[in-house]
Amino acid sequence: SLSSIEQTSNSSFIKKLKSTGRSLVVFYGSQTGTAEEFAGRIAKEGARYKMKGMVADPEECDMADLVEMKEIQKSLAIFCIATYGEGDPTDNAMDFYEWLQNGDADLEGLNYAVFGLGNKTYEHYNEIAIYIDQRLEELGATRVHEIGLGDDDANIEDDFVSWKEKLWESVCSHYGIEETGEESNIRQYKLVDCSEVLPERIFSGEISRLKSYENQRFPFDVKNPYLSKIAVNRELHKSGDRSCMHIEFDIDGSKMRYDTGDHVAVYPKNSSELVDKIGELLNADLDAVFSLLNTDEESSKKHPFPCPCTYRTALNYYLDITSNPRTHIMKELIEYASDPKDQEKLKLMASSTPEGKKEFHEWILRDNRNIVHILEDLPSVKPDLDHLCELLPRLQCRYYSISSSPKVYPKSIHITAVLVNYTTSTNRVNKGVATNLLAQLIPTNDELPQPTIPIYIRRSQFRLPPKSQTPIIMIGPGTGLAPFRGFIQERDYARKEGREIGEMVLYFGCRKKDEDFIYENELQEYVANGTLTKLYLAFSRDQPEKKYVTHLLEQNADELWNIIGEKSGHLYVCGDARSMAKDAHSIIVKVVMEKGQMTNSQALNYVKKMEQQKRYSADVWS
Ligand code: FAD
Ligand code: 2AM
Repeated sequence: SLSSIEQTSNSSFIKKLKSTGRSLVVFYGSQTGTAEEFAGRIAKEGARYKMKGMVADPEECDMADLVEMKEIQKSLAIFCIATYGEGDPTDNAMDFYEWLQNGDADLEGLNYAVFGLGNKTYEHYNEIAIYIDQRLEELGATRVHEIGLGDDDANIEDDFVSWKEKLWESVCSHYGIEETGEESNIRQYKLVDCSEVLPERIFSGEISRLKSYENQRFPFDVKNPYLSKIAVNRELHKSGDRSCMHIEFDIDGSKMRYDTGDHVAVYPKNSSELVDKIGELLNADLDAVFSLLNTDEESSKKHPFPCPCTYRTALNYYLDITSNPRTHIMKELIEYASDPKDQEKLKLMASSTPEGKKEFHEWILRDNRNIVHILEDLPSVKPDLDHLCELLPRLQCRYYSISSSPKVYPKSIHITAVLVNYTTSTNRVNKGVATNLLAQLIPTNDELPQPTIPIYIRRSQFRLPPKSQTPIIMIGPGTGLAPFRGFIQERDYARKEGREIGEMVLYFGCRKKDEDFIYENELQEYVANGTLTKLYLAFSRDQPEKKYVTHLLEQNADELWNIIGEKSGHLYVCGDARSMAKDAHSIIVKVVMEKGQMTNSQALNYVKKMEQQKRYSADVWS
């Protein structure tokens, strides 16, 4: 095989390691592809230490084979593991995680190291990686290097690179080996010219099945999204220069069902302006049809994205061209820079020296440069477009908390989305990919084809209490109101059907009453008709000092304790305000302490128990 990295194609990764003379396997628990990318980079670097590596998806492997790793000399298993949502493993690591929890395999002789991918804005920071690191040791395995924790809220690339440098030092001393300096810069995929391929065989943005949009088939899911019409798209802000959209996806006839509290995923498309710019900068024919084929014929992953397609399709639908590229892309671009100055700059940013990290931090992260900006500002850098397509990460779908109840709207899914636009320090306007696309999808009254977008429903754990009488508290400033609009609709429906419903207390906050108080009329109606028991409002910028929902919570300790402590009610937090969910959490702990007469640790335990009983749920994003 030509390549030094590969993806396992059958369940026995041990067999594969042995038959291909490899001693390093890097597993990833990845949802958005970052952990997978990190795993690939480690596997590739193994060559420098005479450790031929391969990447493996735990979902495709029989992980019980880890007990056999000791049969391979100087072998090493590395785990790049992301933690999601409320401390959950990624889908592909779920079985492995359960196997570790429930099993008692003897892992003596297994050498390992773990790198975690997490986000400090969430309470359960890197919990899964930390658990795996500890559990492997408990089962007898040998930790070759201490766990690394990546924080996506700060600079996860930096955390990863720093950890990786130290990892190899530990590996060298553990196995008594030395760096060979051999760097394998071979590509994982090779370019195949597809100019002769028939049009009906060419992908045009489908996620998996060819022509799946022309020829829609049930059931719809992540691999087979539903091409939904937009039934409604209206502005929710009353004034000001920001925008918040109320969008209704028409799912009539799709057989898709959702529950109140679920998320809807939207597959976006990049702006054609940016795509054209890449074509111009690289002097490339964007309409040429190509394919990228894995150089490792045994690999189960033949292409990095659906191929063949045109470069335009790849850049529009499959590749992320707007986020900040990671340092390994800088490294790969070096060879394409004809101006020594550009070359030096890329080399510096690719290096893990303090100066290199500083430059990367300032020039890429702080100045928020994407690949287009880099090609503009380093004009001698002209990578082959197919190589660039191999390097760029996959474009990810975007999630939205569904803001409707299926009881009231079985045939549509509502979302509440803020338009993302911001100016960078180099005076460029960066536009959020999905929200700027959604903003253009305005339904018309006439017979013209209506705008559509691919979506699917992702189940969530964010649920109303099983009993409609259970009292609830909802904390949702800004778009954090979204799922609660669904909750309120659901209970309003139940009440109108004659069922008894419990107290519903909502905390909502925004900047100004006359600007971004979204769904004001609806909320006031629910107050008037009795569905919403209490509506607490915090307008942060209507007076000189900031007023937040958290300030109101602090003032209402008695009512909070009455509902969660005395009446065993449920508490929900939702939103994108960075520290809001954390602030709310500590206020709740304080209330439980004071009103429930507990010590700090008793109160923390009480709240933890609430979380386990699903009486305290958060739906937060950053
Ligand atoms: P992108 O192209 O992804 O750009 C966004 C990125 O730009 C940010 O991540 C940040 O890195 C950067 N950025 C943004 N603003 C600035 C700035 N001022 N300065 C510097 N950098 C900046 N969103 C909603 O509006 N409503 C919801 O109900 C909702 N629910 C969600 C539920 C879940 C479970 C999750 C994970 C996310 C949710 N989101 C919601 C967020 C949503 O998924 C998208 O992230 C958001 O709409 C932006 O997508 P975009 O493609 O337009 O922007
Ligand atoms: P600000 O932007 O004026 O600071 C929705 O985003 C609302 O949440 C805004 O009014 C915002 O106020 C507010 N907000 C920002 N940070 C918050 C926090 N830590 N806790 C509660 N609300 C917050």
